[in-house]
Amino acid sequence: MPEILRDPSFDSTLDVLREGYPFLLNRSSRFDSDIFQIRLMGMKAICLHGPEAAQLFYDPTHFIRTGAVPRRVQTTLMGLDAIQTRDNGEHRCRKEMFMSLMGEESRQRLLQLLAAQWQHYAQRWEQQKRVVLFKEVQEILCRATCTWAGVPLPEDEVRTRVRDFGAMVDGFGGVGPRHWRGKQARSRGEKWMRNVVRAIRAGELHPQEGTAAHTVAWHREPDGELFDVQMAAIELLNATRPIVAIATYITFAAMALHEYPPYRQMLRSQTEDYAELFVQEVRRYFPFTPFLGAIVRNDFMWHGFEFPKGTLVLLDVYGTNRDERWWQDPEVFWPDRFRQWQENAFDFIPQGGGDFLTGHRCAGEWITIDVLKQAVQFLNDGLTYNVPPQDLRYDLTRMPTLPASGFVLTDVRPTGNAMPRIIPRPSEAVTSTGCPFHHG
Ligand code: HEM
Repeated sequence: MPEILRDPSFDSTLDVLREGYPFLLNRSSRFDSDIFQIRLMGMKAICLHGPEAAQLFYDPTHFIRTGAVPRRVQTTLMGLDAIQTRDNGEHRCRKEMFMSLMGEESRQRLLQLLAAQWQHYAQRWEQQKRVVLFKEVQEILCRATCTWAGVPLPEDEVRTRVRDFGAMVDGFGGVGPRHWRGKQARSRGEKWMRNVVRAIRAGELHPQEGTAAHTVAWHREPDGELFDVQMAAIELLNATRPIVAIATYITFAAMALHEYPPYRQMLRSQTEDYAELFVQEVRRYFPFTPFLGAIVRNDFMWHGFEFPKGTLVLLDVYGTNRDERWWQDPEVFWPDRFRQWQENAFDFIPQGGGDFLTGHRCAGEWITIDVLKQAVQFLNDGLTYNVPPQDLRYDLTRMPTLPASGFVLTDVRPTGNAMPRIIPRPSEAVTSTGCPFHHG
C-alpha cells in the first residue's frame, strides 16, 4: 500500500501563517503530488489538491463536516453549529432553505435594490474628495441586503452593522485583536438577529414571505421543530453577512479594471456577455477562501491511499483554481480563458464545488456572480473616476486579504448611463429534497 507523503515539518501551523494562501499549493508543487500529509495544530491532516481530489472531497459518502471547522472560525465567521458544520438530513433540510432564497426572482430583487443604492452613492461620491471603494461598497451591500432579507436597518445602526459584518469575515484568519473583534462583532450580530426572529414570531414584524428573515424564522428542522432563536439568528446572519463580503471581490474587480484597461472595452461589447468571463476570472484569480476542511466518515481507500475514519482532510481551494494542468498560465489575469471552460464542478472552486444540495457548495454562488457583474458594469460604464497613486498590493499571508488602500477613487462623476441590466443566471434544479418540514 503506498504511503501518503509527509511534510517533514513537525507541525505546519506556523508555516500556514507565514505562507498564507499558497501554503498547500507550495507543498503539492514541491512533492509533485495531489495528496500529502501535514500536522496542523498537532493534528494529522491529509491535504488534497486539484480537480480529481476535489471530486473526492465533495463525495458526502466519504466525508462529514461535523468537527471539521475550528471553533475560532465558527465563533467569528459562521456561528456555532451552523449549516457549514451539519451533515446528512439536517444539512440537506437547511440547504434547501438557503437555496429557496436563491431563485431568479429573488436575485433580481436584490439587483434592483442594489441598482438604487449604486446610483444614490454615486451622487454622493461626486461631492467627495476621495472615496475608499471597499468601505463604500460594504455599505451599499449592507443596505440592499437588509431590505432584501426583510431585516430592518435603522439609519443610526448602519455604520455598526457594516463594521460588524466586515469584522466577522475579517476575523476568521486573524489572531489577537482581529480575532477578538470578529467575535465581538458576531455577538452583536447574533443579538440583533435574535431580536429580529423574536419580533417576527411574536407578530411584531412582518417580512414578506420568501425573504430570508421570514424563511429562516419559520423554517423547521427535520424533527419538525422551529430553529431555536439563537440558531435562527446564526442562519439569518449566514444569509446576509456573505452578501456584504462580496465587497472584497468587487474591490479586486475594480483593481483588475484599473490594471488591465483593455478589458474595459471588451466589457462594452454588445455581442457577448463579457462581464460573465470577467467576473469568473476575478473569482479564480483573486484569493478569498484558502482551503476547506472535512472529516473522514468511515475508513476508505483512494488510489491505494488509506483514509482512516476521523482524519481531518483539507482541500486546497486557492491552489486548485491555479493548477497549471487545468489553467494555462494561472498567474495571468485573462478572462477569455472562461470561453473554453467546460462548466465543471471541481476544477474551479472559489466557493466550493460539487452539488449544491447534497454537498456544502456555497449557497450564494449565483448571487455573488450576479452582484459582481452588476458592479463591474456600473464601475465601467456608470462612472468616471481617477485612481490616484496608492498601495494596491495585497498580502497573501493575510487571510482574508484585500488591496492595502481599499481602492481609492477621486473625481468621481456618474455618467448618467442607464444602470446595467443583469439577467440573473438560471438556477439549476435544486429545489427538490427529502425534507418534509421545509418552511413549516
Ligand atoms: C464573497 C463571496 C463568497 C465566497 C468567497 C463564498 C465562499 C464560500 C465557501 C468557500 C463555502 C464553503 C463550501 C464548502 O464548505 O464546501 C461557502 C458556503 C456557504 N456560503 Fe458562501 N461565499 C460567498 C458568498 C455567499 C453568499 C452571497 C451567500 C448567501 C447569500 C453565501 C452563503 C453560503 C452558505 C449558506 C454556505 C454554507 C453551505 C453549506 O454548508 O451547505 N455565500 N461559501
